[in-house]
Amino acid sequence: MIGITEDAFKKGMRQLAAAVNVITVAHNGAKEGLTATAACSVSAEPPQVLVCVNTTSGAHDIIQETGAFCLNVLARDQEDIAMGFAGMDGADRSERFDLGSWCTLATGMPVLDGALANFDCQIAQQIQAGTHSVFIGLIVASRAVDDGAPLIYGDGQFTGVSNRD
Ligand SMILES: Cc1cc2nc3c(=O)[nH]c(=O)nc-3n(C[C@H](O)[C@H](O)[C@H](O)COP(=O)(O)O)c2cc1C
Repeated sequence: MIGITEDAFKKGMRQLAAAVNVITVAHNGAKEGLTATAACSVSAEPPQVLVCVNTTSGAHDIIQETGAFCLNVLARDQEDIAMGFAGMDGADRSERFDLGSWCTLATGMPVLDGALANFDCQIAQQIQAGTHSVFIGLIVASRAVDDGAPLIYGDGQFTGVSNRD
């Protein structure tokens, strides 16, 4: 075996606390989305972010076909949305967008109201990396609050940052 076991990988990654996001996409009237912590800034010039999406996720092929996605950075009070878009609340996947209120910016991808930030992106590059696709998105429109409490996932649970829990 090259590298480490999946268990060792997961054990280590549990300790990598991260902001929680929902990646969304819409195509031909269908809407899909997933909760994701694998998202980060790439460059300010041009403005780009990256997200890592499992190829088995319901949103993956639609993101690929549409060539766009929206990265919605969740607020501390949006844990229910994180649970819903991770399939952790027992609800049918068709009900995911019943949670929260949604609008659009430039690309027509679903944009979550009340999120700390929304990055509306066109895909600039797709890289295959094992079970996941890394999508690098050029941000064509965005929205952000001036001040807000983020939703964090760490040690296997949703939480906030310590001074704002
Ligand atoms: C905290 C958290 C972070 C996650 N991060 C990612 C991620 O970065 N990329 C990913 O593909 N799935 C991630 N997932 C898993 C997806 O949210 C989950 O598999 C979701 O159900 C995928 O959508 P599907 O039901 O359409 O397959 C994460 C789940 C949780 C709870």
